[in-house]
Parts: sequence; C-alpha cells; structure tokens
Amino acid sequence: NSYSGWAASATGFMLSNDLLIVTGALVGSSGAILSYIMCRAMNRHFLSVIAGGFGTTSGASVTDGEDQGEVVSIDTTDTAELLKNAKEVMIIPGYGMAVAQAQHIVHEITRKLRDNGVNVRFGIHPVAGRMPGHMNVLLAEAKVPYDIVFEMDEINDDFKNIDVSIVIGANDIVNPSALTDPDSPIAGMPVLECWKGTTSIVLKRSMATGYAGVQNPLFFEENTRMLFGDAKETLDEVLKAL
Ligand code: TAP
Repeated sequence: NSYSGWAASATGFMLSNDLLIVTGALVGSSGAILSYIMCRAMNRHFLSVIAGGFGTTSGASVTDGEDQGEVVSIDTTDTAELLKNAKEVMIIPGYGMAVAQAQHIVHEITRKLRDNGVNVRFGIHPVAGRMPGHMNVLLAEAKVPYDIVFEMDEINDDFKNIDVSIVIGANDIVNPSALTDPDSPIAGMPVLECWKGTTSIVLKRSMATGYAGVQNPLFFEENTRMLFGDAKETLDEVLKAL
C-alpha cells in the first residue's frame, strides 16, 4: 500500500498534479507507519521487510511434515461445562473470528459467563487478523466493554492463572514454535502463550495452517482441546449449552 502511494506521488510530480502528489504522499506515509508498527509487533527489521525478505532463511520449519502426535477434540457441551466451572477465562480472537463473523455471539457468551461470576478477558495480538486493530474493531462493533480487552504485552504473563483459554480462529498468533523453532517463518515473533494455562480450547474448522503456512504444535499439547467447526456455529451451540 505504501509503495502504491509513493508511486502515485511520483506520478503527480511528472504530471504537475498537486492533488496526486498530496494524496500519494498521505497513502505512502500512512502505509509506511503501519508497516513499521507491524514490523515491531512481529519482531522483524523494517529494512529487511522493505527489501523484500521476511528476515528469515527460506528453509522449511523443522516441525513441518513431522508427526507431532494426536489431537484431542472436544464437543460443545463439554466446552460449556469447562467454561462454567472456570474462574479465569481468556478469549483469544484471530482471523477466523472475522471470517465466521462470530464477534456478537462471543459477546453473548462473555456476558453470560460474567453474570455467573467468571472473570473473562480478551487477549489481543498486535497482528491478529489481517490489518492492525482488526480484532479491536470487531469487538467494539459487538459492544464488548473496552476494560476487559487487553493488548498482548499487558496479559501475556497472566496465562499461568488462566483456567480456560478459548482460541477463536487464531493460529499463528498462538504458535509456540515462534519461540522454539529458529527455522520457522515466524521465528522470533512474540505470541500469546496460552499453553501455560490449565486448558486451551482451539476453535477452527480443520487442521489447516494459518497465514504463515506452518503447523502449530499448540494443537498437539496435552492440555489443548480442539473444537472443530465454523466458529459461529460452534459458539452458538456453546451458548445454548451454557
Ligand atoms: P491465521 O494464522 O491466519 O489463522 C486463522 C485460522 O482461522 C486458520 O487456521 C483457520 O483454520 C481459522 N478459520 C478460518 N475461518 C474460520 C471459521 N469460519 N471458523 C473457525 N475458524 C476459522 O490468523 P491469526 O492467528 O489471526 O494470525 C494472523 C496472521 O496474519 C499472522 O501470520 C500475521 O502475520 C498475518 N497478517 C496480519 C496482518 C495484520 S496487520 N493483522 C496483516 C497481514 C498478515 P481452518 O481453516 O482450519 O478453519
């Protein structure tokens, strides 16, 4: 986006068109600022991204193609039971929540749990979704109160006290291999460390990878349960069971 702005601005100089120069410069500079913010969030050098590389080697991740063990799935009734009996719940939304348009049902579940005395909070990764602030916008649209929505840096140390983390259509932002596998395309990116809590429930439709295209060892952890299906449909069932 930034490059297209600068290109438009340059064209403006060639055509002596002030409007093109100004609008191109606005698009170019705002795109550059967003790129810088994203680079910081992903622990990448701005210049290496601008130069076209992603800041890593091109080698495949060591966990790719490896047998990582078995996944344990869970149904909506057991998910509701776990949530009802929890004291501390962390909701981690990702791109899949946007695809499923599940934010309103997430708010309904949050309200129900909070009414029953469960402390529900949201953990937002800076690059969750497909644009900066994507999750914050969706949660605000669903009228989730701001004071229970936290940035990653504010809550990442709290996971040891969390009874249940619900990962809704997120993948790369909760991938522990970012911290453990130096060959992973997302190596070095800070992630939400939900596996440190008692139980993580991951909502997604299949075992497919996310944006970065790498498998996620979180799904194979002993304390992880997979709730397969479209996030809106499964959360609907969870709400009914609650
Ligand atoms: P992803 O890693 O892309 O994972 C999203 C997951 O959602 C997928 O694994 C997918 O699994 C699941 N999903 C899709 N539709 C679903 C549905 N209807 N119901 C339930 N699950 C669904 O997303 P993330 O964890 O939010 O991470 C963001 C990624 O995007 C990062 O790699 C980041 O670098 C990149 N990115 C971010 C931005 C910004 S600024 N936010 C911009 C460009 C790129 P299934 O297919 O199995 O359902």
